Amino acid sequence: MIEKIQTLISKQNIDEKIAEIASMIEKDYEHKDIHFVCVLKGGVVFTVDLARQINKNVYLHFMDVSSYGEDTKSSGDIKILMDLDESIKDKHVIIVEDIIDSGMTLNMLKKRLLGRNPASLKICALLNKECNKTDNIDIDYLGFNIPDEFVVGYGLDYAQKYRNLNYIGIISFEEE
Ligand code: PRP
Repeated sequence: MIEKIQTLISKQNIDEKIAEIASMIEKDYEHKDIHFVCVLKGGVVFTVDLARQINKNVYLHFMDVSSYGEDTKSSGDIKILMDLDESIKDKHVIIVEDIIDSGMTLNMLKKRLLGRNPASLKICALLNKECNKTDNIDIDYLGFNIPDEFVVGYGLDYAQKYRNLNYIGIISFEEE
């Protein structure tokens, strides 16, 4: 099979959107320290690019979760594969994700992190597949709503490939 990638969102569009979100966050957190919780692996590219556009201190935290574990069906809770290494109690936290699909991962993660008593907790995602929602989810900062296609690049992978593309593309497969 040949893998073909067609651009959905260009690097320039991503850069412009990140600048917009960064200035909204700067304004909303004017007198507060910001704590990003980056959800690995996909969220890493967006997290660091967004943090670099914010002209104030942003603390970076990393977490890796799986919503399905060994099962194909969700267990209703997430499995923490790698936890935060510091407390978020009384901190102003923003969870940063590359993509929200069904919304399950983020809803479960949000519930878990709220249990750790942050001062506030918001959600920031670069991409959202509106049509796939099984869970209602409030996204505080959103880059783009996208169609239900298999997207790669800018953190998102197909079989761990293409995370380093500087744009978002739709991948398709053709017979050789
Ligand atoms: C993706 C994404 C979210 C989750 C969204 O991660 O980064 O964490 O899926 O899906 P949901 O809204 O249906 O719960 P993935 O499992 O692909 O892991 P990765 O980021 O390590 O590639």
